[in-house]
Amino acid sequence: MTGPTFSTERLVLRRWSPADRRPFARINADPEVTAYRFAPLTRRQSDAIIDQEEANFDRQGFGLWAVERKRDRRLLGFTGLARSDFGARFCPAVDIGWQLSRDAWGRGYATEGARAVLTFAFEELGLSEVVAHTTRLNERSRAVMRRLGMSRSDRRFRRPLVPTGSPASSLRAQSPSGVRLATGRREDSPVIGHGTAPPTTRSTDPASPISK
Ligand SMILES: CC(C)(COP(=O)(O)OP(=O)(O)OC[C@H]1O[C@@H](n2cnc3c(N)ncnc32)[C@H](O)[C@@H]1OP(=O)(O)O)[C@@H](O)C(=O)NCCC(=O)NCCS
Repeated sequence: MTGPTFSTERLVLRRWSPADRRPFARINADPEVTAYRFAPLTRRQSDAIIDQEEANFDRQGFGLWAVERKRDRRLLGFTGLARSDFGARFCPAVDIGWQLSRDAWGRGYATEGARAVLTFAFEELGLSEVVAHTTRLNERSRAVMRRLGMSRSDRRFRRPLVPTGSPASSLRAQSPSGVRLATGRREDSPVIGHGTAPPTTRSTDPASPISK
């Protein structure tokens, strides 16, 4: 198992290990953490995310990194990159997402980890843009985007195969000097969240980690 690993002030972002499966399943079984995905995940679904992300790292060199806290080596969740290709005007794109255990919210960990991921995306992968999108109702996720310096575009988009009736928003970050930030928003758009993507495109399965 190889692949990019990042060390921040309080976190290590790394590839997944077998020991992560149980704590990750606990995180994914929490209805509050998984509200944006419409339902908690089973152990099998949770394990499938790890398998999928390990395959993504092997194939494309990026995915969702396991986020481990340095001081107690506890798995807090993930942050990372995935491919979005669901027909919105900004697709295909690489997007950034995050998910942490409920008791790890409110400490700045998501933003800290995401900064390292964005640096990698722009400086190592050479991407010129990273997109983030979420439901407008997910204020915590939107706040992470704002703290990262992302801003909204005026674009509107529709995410297929998710319940209608919920507004969605999207933010884009461009790097390094361009900083033309754009966003998508559609009043009647379905719920958009963060999670994982299948190997080349984002999954449309609501149980998928980056089902948005
Ligand atoms: C989205 C999610 C990762 C955001 O977590 P979060 O804890 O709100 O975000 P951060 O980790 O960046 O923490 C920011 C908060 O920590 C506070 N904080 C405390 N110590 C801090 C520190 N040392 N540095 C920075 N911020 C700190 C900030 O003031 C901020 O507090 P506030 O929310 O009261 O304004 C989390 O809500 C989550 O996992 N949700 C479920 C999954 C999900 O919805 N994912 C996104 C789908 S689109």
